[in-house]
Amino acid sequence: TGYVTLDIGYKNTGATKSAITFLDGEQGILKYRGYPIEELAEKSSFIEVAYLLIYGELPTAEKLKAFQYELSHHTLVHEDMKKFFDGFPSKSHPMGQLSSLVSALSAFYPESLKPSQTTEELNQSIIKMLAKMATVVSWIYKKSLGHPVIYPQNKYDYVTNFLYMTFGQRTEEVTIDPVVIDAMNKLLILHADHEQNCSASTVRIVGSSDSNIYASVSAGISALWGPLHGGANQAVIEMLEKIKEDGGDTDKWIAKAKDKNDPFRLMGFGHRVYKNFDPRAKIIKKACDDILAKLGINDEVLDIAKRLEEVALKDPYFVERKLYPNVDFYSGIIYRALGFPTDMFTVLFALGRLPGWIAQWKEMKENKEPIGRPRQIYVGSTSKDYVEIAKR
Ligand code: CMC
Repeated sequence: TGYVTLDIGYKNTGATKSAITFLDGEQGILKYRGYPIEELAEKSSFIEVAYLLIYGELPTAEKLKAFQYELSHHTLVHEDMKKFFDGFPSKSHPMGQLSSLVSALSAFYPESLKPSQTTEELNQSIIKMLAKMATVVSWIYKKSLGHPVIYPQNKYDYVTNFLYMTFGQRTEEVTIDPVVIDAMNKLLILHADHEQNCSASTVRIVGSSDSNIYASVSAGISALWGPLHGGANQAVIEMLEKIKEDGGDTDKWIAKAKDKNDPFRLMGFGHRVYKNFDPRAKIIKKACDDILAKLGINDEVLDIAKRLEEVALKDPYFVERKLYPNVDFYSGIIYRALGFPTDMFTVLFALGRLPGWIAQWKEMKENKEPIGRPRQIYVGSTSKDYVEIAKR
């Protein structure tokens, strides 16, 4: 009943008013709370950006210290979570493990289930969500190696602690290379929010039924997993590897991407909103060159990626459709250089996107938005008589 506007895929429908992230797809502008992404990626740290997104302002030195202190004192995850974590097959996809583990956090921190939390309670849920995510991600990585988990150390900041739990050993002291810490901060900042994308909208819509923070974020992780969204960073490297094995003929693969009878798409290319360039891709491309040079790595897939980009940007198919490299085109090459296996890439995207999901969830709650409930245009049959099973 009533008038329904049809917009499949919400290409043109605003679902909320938001003061978190500004995006101009025509001009390639991305700002968090008014600050240009270029400046934040250059000057800020991931945890400062997390604070900015969630609380709306850059923190003072004192507030940042207090935030970091709170975070580092909630990094432990209940030991009983390990019981079912141990039951996952060791080769199961990290994103499946992550969404299950994050959802399970609600069982261990049930205060999050209270629908109308006080500001302090809400804040505690946010801190726990952020703090425990890094620990859980490191568990998943360690499991893939068959190694024991490493417990967090409160002396480290968030990103260093994450890298320590991931690349640290029980047997010896490790020093995390500052180049790696910087690169990780930059990548996480670039992924931290992107307004009403598929996973953020999912988090908002799940949260709009008053679901708890863990359930809402877990749903966002599931949405991110798909190769058309965050899963593209894994798909890009797999594609580049395939092209390399196939002899590196980029023209052949560009032709495949253009062929409408071939389901192959150039992964890491195209974006629903950016129609001139993705500002994150620009920063990542340069960071990729810098980081590989600093770490002394020569990766052939980077050359293939650059050749693909060069050919595609001149090809009328991609030009007419305004298809440019997106954030995922070069991020995987950096993750690889830092030592992460391919199937962990989307999990790293999730770690970076977490402050954005939290900020979107918090804003939705603070604005007291109604439950999300899209309409439809029914196209099925309207009148059928029931036929007994024996007569069908
Ligand atoms: N390779 C070849 N053709 C493409 C590509 C591509 N990567 N992307 C879009 N097209 C074509 C598409 O076939 C269509 O052609 P036509 O008009 O002839 O039917 C046209 O361009 C428009 O594409 P669309 O699928 O209608 O556009 P969309 O806004 O629904 O999809 C997208 C956007 C990002 C899902 C899509 O560009 C895509 O599948 N890209 C590859 C996957 C990818 O890199 N995803 C990461 C996105 S950025 C990070 C994130 O969101 O997580």
